[in-house]
Amino acid sequence: MSNYYRKKIHSNELIATFDDVLILPGFTNFAPDEVDISSSLGKYHFNLPIMSSAMDTVTEELMAINMALHGGLGVLHRNCSYERQLEMCRIVKRARSFVIDDTHVATINPNAGVAKAKFMMENYNISGIVVTNENKKVCGIFTKRDIPFFEHDIQNGIVKDYMTKDVISIKPGTSREEALKILYKSRKEKLPIIDDQGYLKGLITKKDLAPEFPFASKDDEGHLLCALALSPKFPESSQNQELLKEIDTYVDIFFIDVADFYKKADIEGTEKLMKFLDSDFVLGNVGTYEAAEYLITKCDFLEEKFIALKVGMGSGSICTTSIQTGVGAPTLFATAQVADAITDYNSRIGLIADGGFKNPGDLPKAFAAGADLIMSGHFFAGTEESPGFIDNIAGRKVKVYRGMGSKEARTSGYISDRYTEGSKMLTEGVSNYVPYVGDVYGVLATLKEGLANGMIYAGAKSIQDMKKVSLGIISIVGSRETQPHDLIGKF
Ligand code: XMP
Repeated sequence: MSNYYRKKIHSNELIATFDDVLILPGFTNFAPDEVDISSSLGKYHFNLPIMSSAMDTVTEELMAINMALHGGLGVLHRNCSYERQLEMCRIVKRARSFVIDDTHVATINPNAGVAKAKFMMENYNISGIVVTNENKKVCGIFTKRDIPFFEHDIQNGIVKDYMTKDVISIKPGTSREEALKILYKSRKEKLPIIDDQGYLKGLITKKDLAPEFPFASKDDEGHLLCALALSPKFPESSQNQELLKEIDTYVDIFFIDVADFYKKADIEGTEKLMKFLDSDFVLGNVGTYEAAEYLITKCDFLEEKFIALKVGMGSGSICTTSIQTGVGAPTLFATAQVADAITDYNSRIGLIADGGFKNPGDLPKAFAAGADLIMSGHFFAGTEESPGFIDNIAGRKVKVYRGMGSKEARTSGYISDRYTEGSKMLTEGVSNYVPYVGDVYGVLATLKEGLANGMIYAGAKSIQDMKKVSLGIISIVGSRETQPHDLIGKF
């Protein structure tokens, strides 16, 4: 606890939040392009230390795929059935695998009409279909280039008369490099994987082989990382237990998702889940040194699977927990407290600062207080990739953003155990509109720059260096001065 701010809050003298502090400028002895914003949690490395919240108006499969493609992580929400969770996880895991497995390859019978093949290609947004006979053996490939020119031929033509019969293919187990060579040599977009008996085993496409997203968060096999929020309650029915086991095969990290994890029942449920499932676990949320110390030193969590704590309580832009209950741990305060406990008891455990971020400049502050990654719903709820429709209010495009403790989210079914059990009337979140802000890439680019520039000013070359910079508490007058001021008119 070298720094003044951490000492001060450690004694609980001050429950401070982002706007209460500033990072003091530091000596910079590196070039701007040397700054490294990447970070790690357990064995996972992230080129972008940013996560999107497990909320039903923030992260479903589209957000999760895009967050991972850009080097961060989107945590799929849990306000839905296990069946829907399984579907989301499957889509994320298979999104960029370099092999599309046989159950997901679009196929067509050789006697089907050309019109049907054209319709399938347009609807699935693909450029070709593998042609398989009744015995599921490959007999050709039909691509957009094979579609006849005249409408009459499209309407009356049969696939087998137009398809390419001499299919260039590869055998199961062909390496990525070998597949790339064959693709470029043959000038093809797709290569079916066909076994010695002629059965279709999968498909690889040029698009998936070429790494358009060099910074993506991937597992060892090149699939996108997949994270899912989970209730700490062990599922009662054997059917749900089986579904959860299947979900486990797609997930890399489960995020135990409750407002306050420092609870006996939640801890015991999680200990059981950790033994039942193979994937890694992030536990949260917690808000104090004392809670983190207890979780790290007194519980029966499997050490190798317990990779991080998620912190912050009541700071989110849609949260009302602190107003409704008088209890809370603002994210910056919680980060500094829990970071100290991690330093004292097990520095292998990561820390995710969750919620309350309003401006890009809040990110460097969270890292300075001890975070390894940050999580936000607010930054992403208004993007193209969040679930829900773009609405229009007074000529402005908007999307709905709702707290998981809002009446709207809690009455939709599954999430009630995120909050104090048994409480039905007390909402702990609100639902409202946020401005539509375009695609997630644009938002991430701004956050990335704010973070990188903050690190340069602070003189920190890496996220680990950032944890050593000094934070100071700013006076109210000083804070006012950091905003634009003494201008004519409103800003
Ligand atoms: P931001 O500030 O990004 O915060 O909107 C998102 C985080 O807030 C948490 N969360 C809630 N907290 N009531 C709460 O007290 C709620 O209804 C609620 N919904 C989400 C969650 O940790 C999320 O990541």
